[in-house]
Amino acid sequence: MRMVAVLAAVALLAASGCGADHDDTPPPATVEVFTWWAEGGEKAGLDALITQFGTDCRGQRFENGAVAGGAGVNAKQALTERMIRHDPPDTFQAHAGAELLDYIDAGQVADLTGYYADWGLRDVLPAGLIDDLTVRGKIYSVPANIHRANVVWTNPAVLAAAGITAPPEDLHAFIEDLARLKAAGVEAPLALGRDWTQLMLLEAVLITDLGADRFAGLFTGATDWTSAPVAEAIGDFVTLLGYGNLDRDALDWPQAERLLIDGKAGYQLMGDWAAADLTAKGFPGYGWFTFPGNGNTFQWLADSFTLSTGAANLGGTECWLKTVGSAAGQQVFNQAKGSIPARTDVPATGFSPYQQSAMTDWKSAVQVPSCAHGSGCSQAWQSAVNAALRAYSTAPDPKTLQGALAQAATRFIRS
Ligand code: BGC
Repeated sequence: MRMVAVLAAVALLAASGCGADHDDTPPPATVEVFTWWAEGGEKAGLDALITQFGTDCRGQRFENGAVAGGAGVNAKQALTERMIRHDPPDTFQAHAGAELLDYIDAGQVADLTGYYADWGLRDVLPAGLIDDLTVRGKIYSVPANIHRANVVWTNPAVLAAAGITAPPEDLHAFIEDLARLKAAGVEAPLALGRDWTQLMLLEAVLITDLGADRFAGLFTGATDWTSAPVAEAIGDFVTLLGYGNLDRDALDWPQAERLLIDGKAGYQLMGDWAAADLTAKGFPGYGWFTFPGNGNTFQWLADSFTLSTGAANLGGTECWLKTVGSAAGQQVFNQAKGSIPARTDVPATGFSPYQQSAMTDWKSAVQVPSCAHGSGCSQAWQSAVNAALRAYSTAPDPKTLQGALAQAATRFIRS
């Protein structure tokens, strides 16, 4: 894309008789930032970061390379195609953890270890996160935030109309509340969306049924995907699907969230980008609770930004990354995005009540990674699991689903 623009500009200069000899004005310095934040709370977060970038990086212009689609399902595909064409954006959003390793192994991202020293990031990021970001002694991205995946969002008015006034204490009680809503006339009490959102629900159930340690072991090889507890969790997951909307595979997460906002559902399991999005969409009165039975487990993921190998505008991208990692950048970005700062030195004032509770939880909780959002699984693994869930929708057989999940783990687990 950019190559085409450059060629066109050269052609124009040649046609007008102007050459570099006659016009020394440097072209505008543009940083192309590639994300999947295109609307609602996600766009609000990105916009806040763009404003901060404008303040911090005078003379640099932000170019928005966003490709819409929840969890980056479309963006990651578009990015792969650009990588194949050797046309990377200057910087792109990637999840910390297993997913980032894909880009590191392919040599598509530059080593940022030196910037960590220059910008003092090691002193302000949690040691555990630094560990998760470190690959063979080097760090390749700057985290912008910490999101929590295992949260249930509620429409309190819908629940109250069915006499539900408190969060369920465990999974069994949650299923009872779903049945209660259904009996009260709410046809699909649990708002569901496409493949990766179903994976989030399955992961939340697995955390409940296996416990944090055994859940985390699913992604390291320590826990067997063919075991009876996994079969039991799939059974619970299937029960929950039975309380959801039948058109789930056709909806991205904001459309499923719309069912909640419009009072057509009482609950949605979703990451805490929903907190910002519900507010951005005029529904600040949402309720929330950690998925029933997850206890004090915090299923984390972190959006981080990279420096593409061969980035066209190195100086501008360095400045973008510095802004992403700065206290001011993390404050404005996260307040609008629903996540919490990855840095530990950003004050809690100005964050929503939900975010303040997440900040407190993050300090004391048991942390587990997310497969759907790349902290636990590579992209190939995610794709295989998502395909298994789509297949389940067409031919619902729990045993086949478990077999496909086990096969994906065998194929894609990294030793
Ligand atoms: C990202 C979030 C984003 C969510 C929904 C996740 O993978 O980490 O930043 O809001 O997907 O698109």
